[in-house]
Amino acid sequence: MLVLVTKDYDEMSKEAAKRVAAMVRKKPDCVLGLATGSTPIGLYKELVRMHKEEGLDFSKVTTFNLDEYVGLPPEHNQSYHYFMWENFFKHINVDPRNVYIPQGMAENVDEFCEWYENRIKEVGGIDLQILGIGSNGHIAFNEPGSSLGSRTRIKTLKESTRRDNARFFSSIDEVPKYAITMGIGTIMEAQEIILLASGKNKADALKKTVEGPITAMCPASTLQLHRKATIIADKEAASLLDKELIEIPK
Ligand code: F6R
Repeated sequence: MLVLVTKDYDEMSKEAAKRVAAMVRKKPDCVLGLATGSTPIGLYKELVRMHKEEGLDFSKVTTFNLDEYVGLPPEHNQSYHYFMWENFFKHINVDPRNVYIPQGMAENVDEFCEWYENRIKEVGGIDLQILGIGSNGHIAFNEPGSSLGSRTRIKTLKESTRRDNARFFSSIDEVPKYAITMGIGTIMEAQEIILLASGKNKADALKKTVEGPITAMCPASTLQLHRKATIIADKEAASLLDKELIEIPK
């Protein structure tokens, strides 16, 4: 696992964008795994800039999002569908037919989850997966205690995660209680993973991820087993890490 520490959020976003762009240029029909939340917004902004100013071409790219709240329709302004179109997809030339996001309104959630897993396999698997990290060490909505081999399924959100996400809703009661999420096993099958972390409130989770034991109580620690996982963290998120384990991007 490579740990890169950047001076701030902006540099973290640009470093990640460089790597995503390199993948898209090397393999124009690559499959990207994408995350929502505050952390990747700067990455999407930089990729949009690269599309507009440098002609970065997403026309053959396929995307799979990690997760979606159960019960929120795609047009709800806190759904992850809405987030992805507003922050990224509507600004680039991705083919909407190649965009996959879990269906929070699926009638049969189990059937949908199986279909999602199969669809990822049918397109050849995820080439590059982008992740954020929860302050409790979750990746996607795989909360502490999730099985390390888990696949796409419905999960109950922890109170701490609902509290973290309440800032986007008018009150915590409005934050959905369930989400559909790719599993840790699904994520670990990606050829390459980039986990982004920014801010002091991620420092403890990042320390456990990089230096702690591999444990279901910190789902992100599973990345220690991945062949090609890179963590790009800003100084604040990396503030508790052993300095000998990190590198500064050139
Ligand atoms: C979102 C996701 C979550 C977030 C995590 C961090 O698709 O998978 O695991 O990455 O909750 O969220 P932010 O970036 O808002 O701190």
